[in-house]
Amino acid sequence: MRVLGVNAVFHDPAAALVVDGEIAAAAEEERFTRRKHGKAPVPFSTWELPEQAMRWCLQAAGLTPSDLDAVAYSYDPALAPDDGGDVVADDWEGLRTLYAQRAPRFLRTALPGLDPACVQFVPHHVAHAASAHLAAPFADSAVLVLDGRGEAASHLAGRAEGGRLEVLAAQQLPHSLGLLYEEVTAHLGFRRSSDEYKVMAMASYGSPRWLRRFRDLVRVTDDGGFHVEPIEWTRFAPASSGGEDWTPAHADLASTVQARLEEVLLDLAGWLHDHTGQRTLTMAGGVALNCVANARLAAEGPFEQIWVQPAAGDAGTALGAALHVAAEAGDAVHPMTTAALGREWTDDELAAWLTTADIGYDRPDDIADAVAEVIAANGLVAWFQGRSEYGPRALGHRSLLANATRADNLKRLNDVKGREQFRPVAPMVLADRAAEIFDGRLPSPYMLFTHRIRPAWAERIPAVVHVDGTARIQTVADDTEPLVARMLRRLAARTGVPVVVNTSLNTAGRPMVDSPRDALECFGSAPVDALALGPYLVRRHSLTARPVPARAPTARGIPAREAVA
Ligand SMILES: [Fe+2]
Repeated sequence: MRVLGVNAVFHDPAAALVVDGEIAAAAEEERFTRRKHGKAPVPFSTWELPEQAMRWCLQAAGLTPSDLDAVAYSYDPALAPDDGGDVVADDWEGLRTLYAQRAPRFLRTALPGLDPACVQFVPHHVAHAASAHLAAPFADSAVLVLDGRGEAASHLAGRAEGGRLEVLAAQQLPHSLGLLYEEVTAHLGFRRSSDEYKVMAMASYGSPRWLRRFRDLVRVTDDGGFHVEPIEWTRFAPASSGGEDWTPAHADLASTVQARLEEVLLDLAGWLHDHTGQRTLTMAGGVALNCVANARLAAEGPFEQIWVQPAAGDAGTALGAALHVAAEAGDAVHPMTTAALGREWTDDELAAWLTTADIGYDRPDDIADAVAEVIAANGLVAWFQGRSEYGPRALGHRSLLANATRADNLKRLNDVKGREQFRPVAPMVLADRAAEIFDGRLPSPYMLFTHRIRPAWAERIPAVVHVDGTARIQTVADDTEPLVARMLRRLAARTGVPVVVNTSLNTAGRPMVDSPRDALECFGSAPVDALALGPYLVRRHSLTARPVPARAPTARGIPAREAVA
């Protein structure tokens, strides 16, 4: 059957198309509209749909709205709290419910020809769960979903066997590990529901000095859930406006919340393991994007294998809802093998864009080798290849690449991207060389776990070594990512290092580049040395070797503390 999945309720609106159990297309609305996270996560925006992403999914498969057997909407308003018909009650929560109830009509307007009766509501956490256990390459697994909130809960723990999910526990609101993390994100001066990964990075600069108090404030319960007490954040550190007022106390608060989150995750995973007997864990929900916690779960938790949905945030519920409806209808669902599910352009179309831009380019014999040459000479390369990624990580299709052997490339990239200097950049590594350079479970193709860098390599790839000695790696295999793998082999042949810095192709506050136009605009406005647009190479100017500074960059606004220096 043909199922269009839609996420529209909170943030990261997205669409995904599943045809006869196969994932045909998936994309986030922000990549089309160029508005980061798609829309504001407020009740008033619930009616807004990922219109462009939906239309593109259909177009990519050659379908029209009337061809769809179902639209799977990743929120079930019947599970939302009863507002008694008062849409302004509880901070307009009733408005969110009302808009969600009316979604079939909004969908018919956005997709003329659609039968609104084919719209099915899928509970938010069931959609997250399906995005994990149905997309993972395992028939059976324990499933853990943790996010800010769904209709009335913030968590789901269950057992998936043969594509069927049995829910074993669900923590009701207001208790929420995702909202806890959002709160500390806002308190530290970052944007909530957006910048949580910055807290994770900042945590590495602090120590968890209030962990004992947070063990009282955030507790697991006997039924597989947890309780979170209201927290007076100013008792630990003053509210930050972001920027220059961070103190060691802010880093310690980030470290404390991160450490407590990891402990609670371990406890929840232990409960789930005891109650399922499964050896594999699949995970989704925004909390599952916490790669530091995931790595600790992999190292200390009871599961032999952990698979995390690359689009673990709400965008991924579009895919999960579609997979769920397809599986419930009896379709054999095929596992996800790549996150490259978005738009792509032919070579001729890319050449036409370059001609329109009236920009000089050439077509080297091998773009992978040409790019390796630029990176070896310490150039920054905008790398635009194949289908764009679904989910928040650049995984070798819309990437900004740099030389990992130069320590100054961390600051250089953070400057190019307008990021805080305390944030690390991540490496791509050839899968068959990864174990030599990084510890931890391998392969790791989706950048969802941190790995410790082996001592012999830390000095060789200083750009990607975070302050705590780890890196959030992406392993690149020849069979799944042949072009990126070849580029890494050519780079290793030149430099001896099968590692490249990989960060998402965008600049401050903008969504990841998706189209050739986005790539050209990004290239035209940032100090990037070359643009590899499919097989074509655009060079800024002839490269000269850049100086290498002796010292590692320090975190802006976080005074160095001896303990972590
Ligand atoms: Fe969610």
